[in-house]
Amino acid sequence: MKKIYLSPPYMGGGEMKYIREAFETNWIAPLGPNVTGFEKEAGEYLGVPYPLALSSGTAAIHLSLKYLGAGSGDIVFCSSFTFSGSCNAAAYEKSELVFIDSEPETWNMSPVALQKAFDDAEKNGKLPKAVIVVDLYGCSADWDKIIPICKRYNVPIIEDSAEAFGSKYKGSFCGVFGDIGIMSFNGNKIITTSGGGMALCKTKEEYDKMLFWATQSREPTPHYEHKEIGYNYRLSNICAGIGRGQLEIIDEKLKRRKDIYERYREGFLNTKIHVMPEVEGYTMNHWLTVTTLDESAEATPEFICAEMNKLNVETRPAWKPMHLQPVFSGCKAFAHGDDGSFVCEEIYRRGICLPSGDALTKEQQSFITDSILKLIGD
Ligand SMILES: Cc1ncc(COP(=O)(O)O)c(C=O)c1O
Repeated sequence: MKKIYLSPPYMGGGEMKYIREAFETNWIAPLGPNVTGFEKEAGEYLGVPYPLALSSGTAAIHLSLKYLGAGSGDIVFCSSFTFSGSCNAAAYEKSELVFIDSEPETWNMSPVALQKAFDDAEKNGKLPKAVIVVDLYGCSADWDKIIPICKRYNVPIIEDSAEAFGSKYKGSFCGVFGDIGIMSFNGNKIITTSGGGMALCKTKEEYDKMLFWATQSREPTPHYEHKEIGYNYRLSNICAGIGRGQLEIIDEKLKRRKDIYERYREGFLNTKIHVMPEVEGYTMNHWLTVTTLDESAEATPEFICAEMNKLNVETRPAWKPMHLQPVFSGCKAFAHGDDGSFVCEEIYRRGICLPSGDALTKEQQSFITDSILKLIGD
């Protein structure tokens, strides 16, 4: 059987048309009509005035942190339950990372743990420069609770929506809730440009400054003049063409992933494996269907993933929390539980991500569901 991957790219719109146009017009550069077009179309879809197309989501977080002035020695709060791309850029800038636990409903940043972190920061007389809040696995964070806490301390939010293109919170798209939002268009994401990302800027000033840094901080002179350090972070016109084609079929993509989620939900009903809940008011993009093993299940995610791999099916444990990563071992972390217990450690201990690609067939999905149920003895 051909290998079933977790979230492979799925082309289906006019991707080749835009790439061909780029070749025919020789726009083989990190600028051109596809870059401008992709920004315009993504911005219109999400309802964001100044989207800036970049080479990755990590680059978008890096420039956002710089824009918000987070530098050496400054504190940056970040969701602990995430991929390292959420927080690496703070480490590039030598900021001090503080990790915040999840809450059990959405698995995203716990307002309770966030408040504990602010109390601690206030007590020490040093507030964070920014809070990076993740919309994990295509589920929104609880913005009605998170935003007022950050506002109280006047600390801006970077909304890491890398995994949440097309997801909504109470009717609005993820990515619009933070002071700056970011998206990833990496190969495994719901919309891909092979590699790419976007900073969802709210003002022209923000857009211009980040664009300046993203294109090597070139001063407007005929020769190359630099007063600031710059980065090569702009999205290529070829990659942006892929993104434009992908955007044409976003509704179809969202439907396919939702159908996959629903089939897993039905397949695992009343068993020892539970799909991530979709809370009322939250519209998930179902980028990945993530499950948790019941306490009563004897199998571990490691065992299931290893066995599924033998069947040529890629599955993965849930993200290992950042505060458990050796590279961030010196960082402070704040738990949701009154007893100091971390919700995200528990999800990590029991979580398994399942294949959720747009092209996954019903037969493949039945095979996956049946195989997992056999492995857990259900
Ligand atoms: C939650 C999260 N944040 C940030 C990133 C970084 O995005 P990129 O890979 O485009 O740099 C990713 C994924 O790749 C992610 O899943």
